[in-house]
Amino acid sequence: MNRLIGLQSLMLEEIEKHVKLVPQRDEPAEWERVHIASCAAIGHILAEKRGVDAELAACACAAHDYGRIVTGKQEDHAQAGYEPVKELLKRDGRFTDEEIEIIAIAVKNHSKKSEIGSPIEEIVKDADVLDMYQHGYELPREEQKKRLKTMLSE
Ligand SMILES: [Fe+2]
Repeated sequence: MNRLIGLQSLMLEEIEKHVKLVPQRDEPAEWERVHIASCAAIGHILAEKRGVDAELAACACAAHDYGRIVTGKQEDHAQAGYEPVKELLKRDGRFTDEEIEIIAIAVKNHSKKSEIGSPIEEIVKDADVLDMYQHGYELPREEQKKRLKTMLSE
């Protein structure tokens, strides 16, 4: 099976599980589901355009908010996702250790929107703000607005 489809269905199972464990959540499960799939789609397009491994970039995008899915909390959710996403990807069994590290670092750093990281990290940050924008979410931080503006003029 395509690794992105496999990871996305694993993420959907994770949402079901963690919504039961932590019913009080900063973002509704509906948004988590939508955001997984649409960030992955945006990430795939950006990666092709930038000459980056599109499947891996899309997988990183699909997994980027895993910390919030697990904890239910927005605060520090990027850092909170680092170890759990490594466990998840190991369990998935279709990623090498090197790929797991690339994705986990992108997950950990994705909230640092004013910093420049690896190509996949940058794709995750760009897909994140573009997806929030296209679904009508406010971008509360200046660094998010700036990133969106740069990306739209790319
Ligand atoms: Fe996000």
